[in-house]
Amino acid sequence: MSRVVVEAKNLSKRYVMGDQTVHALRGINVQIFEGDFVAIMGPSGSGKSTFMNLIGCLDRPSEGECFLDGNPVAKMNDNELAGIRNKYIGFVFQNFNLLPRTSALKNVELPLMYAGAKDREETAKKALVKVGLGERMDHTPAELSGGQQQRVAIARAIVNNPVMILGDEPTGNLDTRTSEEIMAVFQDVNRQGRTVIIVTHEEDVAKHCKRIIRFRDGRIQSDEAVANPVDAREIIKTLPDPDAEVAVSVGTVTAPEPTAEKVTFQI
Ligand SMILES: Nc1ncnc2c1ncn2[C@@H]1O[C@H](COP(=O)(O)OP(=O)(O)OP(=O)(O)O)[C@@H](O)[C@H]1O
Ligand SMILES: [Mg+2]
Repeated sequence: MSRVVVEAKNLSKRYVMGDQTVHALRGINVQIFEGDFVAIMGPSGSGKSTFMNLIGCLDRPSEGECFLDGNPVAKMNDNELAGIRNKYIGFVFQNFNLLPRTSALKNVELPLMYAGAKDREETAKKALVKVGLGERMDHTPAELSGGQQQRVAIARAIVNNPVMILGDEPTGNLDTRTSEEIMAVFQDVNRQGRTVIIVTHEEDVAKHCKRIIRFRDGRIQSDEAVANPVDAREIIKTLPDPDAEVAVSVGTVTAPEPTAEKVTFQI
């Protein structure tokens, strides 16, 4: 049987706001295994981010326990949680969370600095090459597209060799093609043996994962394996070639028989 990377036992979270109590999570029981690729889905307010924050050691539960690689984390203090985070978890956020005036390379080096690692530059460069950004290392986030910025964020998340990568709506701000490219990178990372857990509102994104867990009202509503996960690279092959569109817009018609509407739209 595979190693259990995350185990939640009766995991609950309440937020008390004045005389109101919000039950964000109401007793979650789940195991996530090494090599899993999980999509967390469910309506807004169903507890997805709360769950990610708990398994990501960014917050503590009101009740229950969470084991990360067998370590009980519910009662750890802030320092202990930070230690576990550094060792086990890489985060990818919807809005990338990169340092704006710092090069891609330096952004990726940051977790290595916190960990006091040696050969930081070399290690960071390798992570950037893995996500297909070998040519853009000296660019700052403002000089990169949204998809490229998210690749930098993924490189930063994997650079410490964490056991699992957590993404809260990592494709939420990206167009279809860029989303597919990011899912391709996540699939690569997962094939290399890392556990990946992402929150998404989009069924099309979730179909790339191996397992879909649906939340509702702070509980798990369903937990199902995906029979044949979609391969992002196969989807990308079927999408219109963005370079062909550029060629049309500058007047060199290389795209096959573009329709009148399409040309008008592109100009
Ligand atoms: N810091 C907080 N203080 C008070 N209530 C909170 C806090 N964080 C979340 N909640 C509440 O807990 C519930 C679950 O929130 P959560 O952010 O986990 O939902 P979500 O499933 O991630 O939603 P979305 O899809 O909109 O991101 C919601 O009712 C929310 O208002
Ligand atoms: Mg959320």
